[in-house]
Amino acid sequence: MTIQSAFTLLLALSLVDMGNAERILGAYIFQRHGDRTAKALAPTKLTDLGYTEEYMSGSFFNNRYISSSSAFQIEGISTEIVSLSQITASAPQDTVIQNSGQAFLQGLYPPIGTAANETLRNGSTVQSPLNGYQLIPMSDVQSGSGSEDNTWLQSTSSCSKAEVSSNNYLFSNSYKDLLKSTETMYQSLSPYVSSIIPSDQLSFKNAYTIWDLLNVASIHNGTGTALPSSQEMKNLLVLANNHEYNLAYSSNDTIRAVAGMTLAGQVVTALNKTITSGGKSKLNIQFGAYSTFLSYFGLAGLGAENVNFTGMPDYASSMTWELVTNASGSGMPSESDISVRFMFHNGTSITGSTQLQAYPLYNLTATTLPWTQFVHDTNQFAISTQSQWCQSCGNTTGICSSSANESSDGSSSSSSSSSSSGGMSLAVAGVIGAMVTLGVLAGFTALVMIVFGLRFVRKSTLAAFSRGSGSDASMAAPAFKRPSV
Ligand SMILES: *[C@@H]1O[C@H](CO)[C@@H](O)[C@H](O)[C@H]1NC(C)=O
Ligand SMILES: *[C@@H]1O[C@H](CO)[C@@H](O)[C@H](O)[C@H]1NC(C)=O
Ligand SMILES: *[C@@H]1O[C@H](CO)[C@@H](O)[C@H](O)[C@H]1NC(C)=O
Ligand SMILES: *[C@@H]1O[C@H](CO)[C@@H](O)[C@H](O)[C@H]1NC(C)=O
Ligand SMILES: *[C@@H]1O[C@H](CO)[C@@H](O)[C@H](O)[C@H]1NC(C)=O
Ligand SMILES: *[C@@H]1O[C@H](CO)[C@@H](O)[C@H](O)[C@H]1NC(C)=O
Ligand SMILES: *[C@@H]1O[C@H](CO)[C@@H](O)[C@H](O)[C@H]1NC(C)=O
Ligand SMILES: *[C@@H]1O[C@H](CO)[C@@H](O)[C@H](O)[C@H]1NC(C)=O
Ligand SMILES: *[C@@H]1O[C@H](CO)[C@@H](O)[C@H](O)[C@H]1NC(C)=O
Ligand SMILES: *[C@@H]1O[C@H](CO)[C@@H](O)[C@H](O)[C@H]1NC(C)=O
Ligand SMILES: *[C@@H]1O[C@H](CO)[C@@H](O)[C@H](O)[C@H]1NC(C)=O
Repeated sequence: MTIQSAFTLLLALSLVDMGNAERILGAYIFQRHGDRTAKALAPTKLTDLGYTEEYMSGSFFNNRYISSSSAFQIEGISTEIVSLSQITASAPQDTVIQNSGQAFLQGLYPPIGTAANETLRNGSTVQSPLNGYQLIPMSDVQSGSGSEDNTWLQSTSSCSKAEVSSNNYLFSNSYKDLLKSTETMYQSLSPYVSSIIPSDQLSFKNAYTIWDLLNVASIHNGTGTALPSSQEMKNLLVLANNHEYNLAYSSNDTIRAVAGMTLAGQVVTALNKTITSGGKSKLNIQFGAYSTFLSYFGLAGLGAENVNFTGMPDYASSMTWELVTNASGSGMPSESDISVRFMFHNGTSITGSTQLQAYPLYNLTATTLPWTQFVHDTNQFAISTQSQWCQSCGNTTGICSSSANESSDGSSSSSSSSSSSGGMSLAVAGVIGAMVTLGVLAGFTALVMIVFGLRFVRKSTLAAFSRGSGSDASMAAPAFKRPSV
């Protein structure tokens, strides 16, 4: 490229920048947790590296969506001091994911020093702890509880039909063929992992857990720990990706991807809330695990288009759905002027270097989808209400016993009941603490309890939490005995 043409290109770019100011009205971020210890050595915890990754990703999104100097700033968002009505953060009850969320939020809205000083009636000044640290509540997403301590993520979905569907993969020929053809290779790993994974469990059946253990060691363990060659590690990753993608998504049996269906429903509900509230709620962030990415990638046609999307995203990966418009003015434009853009970044997003990239959804070519089309296409598979979830999952007991009765009365009654409780969108999750104080809890009933479960998470409930799903998990991937260390 000549200097002249480079200059022309630069000029053209800056003209586009100035002339056509696309406005960002809101966004939904789904963020994977950071680097952690190995699942085979549960309980897992977020490492300092993982903490840093999440903090940096949070800073990246501060730079993109919050900072007043950003070309992608969300219109009207509070730039220094967080406004809790604008932002919603949620995570399942899981130590690694919750801590990742806190790290990300620290980067998203960093401490503000003395700017938040408060002057009391008696004239004394109070500065908030940790140099003006900002508190952002995280509400609870029930699905995915304890996922980082679970080798089989579907068991944390709590969805009956999805668990059966994932299990069916273990009866498929493609699974059985790989189990057989890789038998010798997996057995040969014994010297590397024998103290942790017994040799009768060294097979494709535990492809993820084995790769995870070695991958964590390749990042953290000293040179005293012998590891397979990098080519062998790549091979193990390909096998683990194959295993996990097939457990997370099947084109023949979409309920397997229930995690992606639920997320899709949450995205539509939250972005819709941004529109219908006239922009009062602006930014939603949900923290989670790779299986939700894989399920969504499958459902959205990304996996079929690009084989990279059948691979697990790296730690601290982000996907985001941006609500964008070219309409001029400053208020909320009409729905017909609003579009959605899906973006993804593999691994930690770092300000100034790697960037989010837009990808077309649903086998289309355009990366900017009109809102109405996005809603229509997403609703082909999205699950947005509790009764829909119960029906799709085939669960009829517990929290689903009332919706089972409703749906037998006829679909119209079930849909009207879901829309009345459906008003309780996730978008308000971040302010649930305030809502409770105001006594507005009545609106948050059924849905709160389950997939869309929004509870204020207290440390005590986290500590006391334990799932009764050990038997499900052991069906697919026997829990390894913890070595006495
Ligand atoms: C002002 O009120 C605060 C809170 O009640 C108290 O901690 C502080 O000591 C008071 N300062 C003075 C100068 O009375
Ligand atoms: C903020 O409060 C701290 C602690 O009371 C005080 O040292 C500092 O001078 C205050 N700064 C401003 C700008 O008010
Ligand atoms: C759904 O059914 C499965 C299997 O019966 C059960 O393990 C799970 O806890 C149920 N989920 C809910 C939310 O009741
Ligand atoms: C890596 O180090 C940890 C902590 O010392 C140890 O528990 C684990 O077994 C090691 N991993 C491997 C694969 O040897
Ligand atoms: C889906 O079903 C078809 C026909 O039954 C079969 O050929 C194909 O292998 C299945 N695909 C998957 C991913 O299970
Ligand atoms: C958006 O929210 C409004 C008001 O709650 C509701 O009537 C409408 O059906 C929702 N639209 C979508 C696409 O969810
Ligand atoms: C995308 O195309 C693939 C086949 O190329 C198909 O299996 C899949 O269902 C399509 N997905 C969507 C969301 O249209
Ligand atoms: C998949 O990822 C690799 C490595 O990042 C890249 O070189 C390749 O172009 C990607 N493939 C597609 C189809 O995007
Ligand atoms: C992200 O990176 C991992 C390897 O680190 C790869 O397996 C996966 O396919 C990548 N995903 C995408 C969408 O590029
Ligand atoms: C705004 O206009 C630019 C230039 O025509 C286009 O690339 C972009 O996709 C448009 N954005 C929306 C949201 O329509
Ligand atoms: C739903 O129906 C079952 C069996 O008919 C009954 O045991 C249960 O109490 C009903 N649940 C509700 C909430 O009415």
